[in-house]
Amino acid sequence: MARKRFIAGNWKLNLTIDEGVSLVQGLAKALAADPKSAQVEVAVCPTFLALHAVAQAAKGSAVGIGGQNAYFEEKGAFTGESSASLLKNAGAKYVILGHSERRQFFGDTDATINRRLKAVIAQGLVPILCIGETLAERDGGKLEEVLSRQLQGSLDGLTAAQLEHLVVAYEPVWAIGTGRTATTAQAQEAHAFVRGVLRKLVGELAERVRIQYGGSVKPDNAFELLSQPDVDGALVGGASLKLADFTAIIAAH
Ligand code: PGA
Repeated sequence: MARKRFIAGNWKLNLTIDEGVSLVQGLAKALAADPKSAQVEVAVCPTFLALHAVAQAAKGSAVGIGGQNAYFEEKGAFTGESSASLLKNAGAKYVILGHSERRQFFGDTDATINRRLKAVIAQGLVPILCIGETLAERDGGKLEEVLSRQLQGSLDGLTAAQLEHLVVAYEPVWAIGTGRTATTAQAQEAHAFVRGVLRKLVGELAERVRIQYGGSVKPDNAFELLSQPDVDGALVGGASLKLADFTAIIAAH
C-alpha cells in the first residue's frame, strides 16, 4: 500500500510568533501554487507559545500544525508543562515525542514517552515518535538493539488499532544539526529494520506506518533520501526555518 509522504518541520526553540506566522503564510502560499504538493502531507511544529497563532494563520491551508512535546497528564499542578488536550485546543494535529534533544536535555525516557504517547493518542492527535542511536552506539554495533528497545519501550501496551496513525521518525543523533547526514544506504537499512520491528509489534499496520528520516535533511540530499523504499518523509530542523529550503525539500519527491 502506498504511504503518503510526510514532511514535517521541527522549529525547535526558534522564531518569534510573528516570524512563525509569516513563515507559515509563505509556506501555505507556496503549497497552494504547486498542485504537485497535494501528494505530500506537510506540517510545521512551532514552540508552544507560537502554536496557536501559527495554527490560526495556517487555517484552511495544506499545512498542518504540530507540538514538539506533550505532558501525559491533562491538567493539574504541573508547573511549566503543557498537555495534549491543550495542544489540540490550540490547533495542533500532530505531536513530536521522544526527540533526542528531549531525551538528552530534559530527561525523557522510553517509559515517559510511552505515557505521553498514550495521552496524545487519547486526544486523537498524530504522534511523531522519534528514535535514533548516538554515534557511540552505532560504532559499538548497538544500532539494532537501541532502535528495538526505543520502539518496544515507547509502544508498550498500545494496540495496532490505537497506533493506526503512528508516524515514526528515525533520527540518528549524530546527524542532527551537525550537517552530517546518514548515507541513503544507512537510512534505508535503518528504516527497513524499524519497519521489521514494527511488523512484530503491530503486524500488518507496519506497512502503513510512515517512517520519516531526520538529521541534516537539506534541499541537496532530500531527493536521494526520499527515493529510498522505506523512507516515507522527513523531519526537518534547521532547513525548515527557511521557506526556500523547506519548499525545495517538499518538492523533492
Ligand atoms: P536538523 O534537525 O534537520 O537541524 O538536523 C532535525 C531534527 O532534530 O528533527
